[in-house]
Amino acid sequence: MPDDTEPEIDWDSLTFSFTQTDRMYMAKCEIGGEWEKGAMKDFEDLVISPAAGVLNYGQGLFEGLKAQRASDGSIVLFRPQQNARRAQEGARRLGMPPVPEEMFLDAVISTVRENSRWVPPMGKGALYIRPLLMGSGPILGVAPAPEYTFLVFTSPVGPYFKGGITPTSLRVSDKFHRAAPGGSGGVKAIGNYAPGMIPSKMAKKEGYSEIIYLDAVNHRYIEEVGAANFFCVKDGVVSTPALTGTILPGVTRSSIIELASSRGYEVREEKVDVEYAMEADECFCVGTAAVVSSIGKIEYGDKVSEFNGGEVGPVTRQLYEELTAIQQRRAPDEFGWITEVE
Ligand code: PLP
Ligand code: COI
Repeated sequence: MPDDTEPEIDWDSLTFSFTQTDRMYMAKCEIGGEWEKGAMKDFEDLVISPAAGVLNYGQGLFEGLKAQRASDGSIVLFRPQQNARRAQEGARRLGMPPVPEEMFLDAVISTVRENSRWVPPMGKGALYIRPLLMGSGPILGVAPAPEYTFLVFTSPVGPYFKGGITPTSLRVSDKFHRAAPGGSGGVKAIGNYAPGMIPSKMAKKEGYSEIIYLDAVNHRYIEEVGAANFFCVKDGVVSTPALTGTILPGVTRSSIIELASSRGYEVREEKVDVEYAMEADECFCVGTAAVVSSIGKIEYGDKVSEFNGGEVGPVTRQLYEELTAIQQRRAPDEFGWITEVE
């Protein structure tokens, strides 16, 4: 029986950190076989071979989406089909058996339902959902593992950036890159994230919230902000780096492109020269965790640009407001983005 008592948690002090919840989903698949019917179980540690493909060679990917309490009291997901499809793309790139879309969605929905007491009240945060697909079978040669595990766990979370909606300060890295052409930057491979930890930590030590990565070929075009997609606005034109294979195709990114276009903005998916961004009127970054986060300041070499006087700009604010209104059912679901869980 699911526990329906109120968790002992201060909803007003949620941060983007891990809190264990009650239940998780798990399924397995042998290489070349079909996915077994997965099952829900109590949250617990995994038992895994030290020779597992994921531990030795990083054969794994993750997804991230949120369940939110909506204004009508329902619990809703935002475009979970997109996460299911992206995970399939990633699985193909990393030599893992793709999880069928319906199975992915059922797993996410069951995990949210069985942890529903952990969904924060509307506006206080969200239940972050973490699907994980990995090579769990033992292997010594560098090759796809013999067995795969797909699991889903959750954690209640608050704002991704400390300071919530206060505009962040970011630094353009002249030394580190996130991804290279032909690599795995376009999928949510687990191995994409560890190399960003030290650059990000160094930036934070010096008062910045995150790193902006440039492309690895020309060292000139903006790729991403840590784990979020980049946008800038100049003279009413909204620009975002085009998907070249080294950038993660964010669900929030595609939603903002659609939303901004429908509101009459010219939206360009193009190469965004860092020099152009430094002259923009507004900059912001978007993602499931980051939502729409205003960028107040960017440091690039010996230059520092402040946008909109360091305050949240009008286009950023409008897109943030409109997106979160749809996500929380305070506005009509005009694009068909919402899936009700309960
Ligand atoms: N870029 C990277 C590298 C990410 O890890 C994420 C987070 O998922 C995003 C962008 C934003 O993607 P989404 O909007 O699908 O969460
Ligand atoms: C997300 O936005 O879901 C992310 O994956 C960001 C991060 C926590 C890796």
